[in-house]
Amino acid sequence: MFNGALTLLSLIALADTTGLPVFDAQNVCADLSQQGWSLCRLADSELLAALRSEAETLWQADILTPAGIGRAEDHDIVRKIRRDLTHWMDGSTPAQAGYLAFAEAVRREVNYRLMLGLFAFEAHYAVYEPGGFYKRHVDSFRGARNRMLSSVLYLNPDWDPSDGGLLRIYAPDSEDVIAEITPEFGTLALFLSEDIPHEVTPARRDRFSIAGWHRCNDRGLVPALQVKGLPVA
Ligand code: OGA
Ligand code: MN
Repeated sequence: MFNGALTLLSLIALADTTGLPVFDAQNVCADLSQQGWSLCRLADSELLAALRSEAETLWQADILTPAGIGRAEDHDIVRKIRRDLTHWMDGSTPAQAGYLAFAEAVRREVNYRLMLGLFAFEAHYAVYEPGGFYKRHVDSFRGARNRMLSSVLYLNPDWDPSDGGLLRIYAPDSEDVIAEITPEFGTLALFLSEDIPHEVTPARRDRFSIAGWHRCNDRGLVPALQVKGLPVA
């Protein structure tokens, strides 16, 4: 069911080039509570290859659509802020089911260790084509308790920092850049949605990822707000 890219990507994935530690809930939770963000990699090279293959297939079939921002509908405003193509996962393929199962394990571990009350998970494939970016934003208003934990899994073999498309993380309430993350195949970034401002610098190559959010359930009616300062409809 997966195309020939699977074999090639499986081989590539065997040689980890991220230099990052494999996901470990205890380490991730320690990072999240100390600094609000954490960086690691996924070790399941078969799952990674299947996700990349599926993202590429969906993109080539023109299934991905330009992303929006909360309830902002003005296309020009949206294009000033972000230029990525997205497609929501529904768990209907083995690759998606595999990733959602991983997210569920993360949810249970994080709730156990940090008591965040995470309830549900949503995620989409995202492709930033050359020139694509996402200006500085937070994924949820502070206090909205809507999106609580953001995660981005990167699916790009052989990404060089000069290819752009870096995830730039800022210190809370500051202009200080505290990290620039290369979207290399298998890298997983996790951060607190309300606390960590971040942006995606302009990509110079097609950049594949999965952006996901664990939400909590105690303010179910608050709309999804992705950019600070936009009016709430
Ligand atoms: C997002 C986002 C970061 C990335 O989709 O909200 O900030 O590195 N993505 O793709
Ligand atoms: Mn974001």
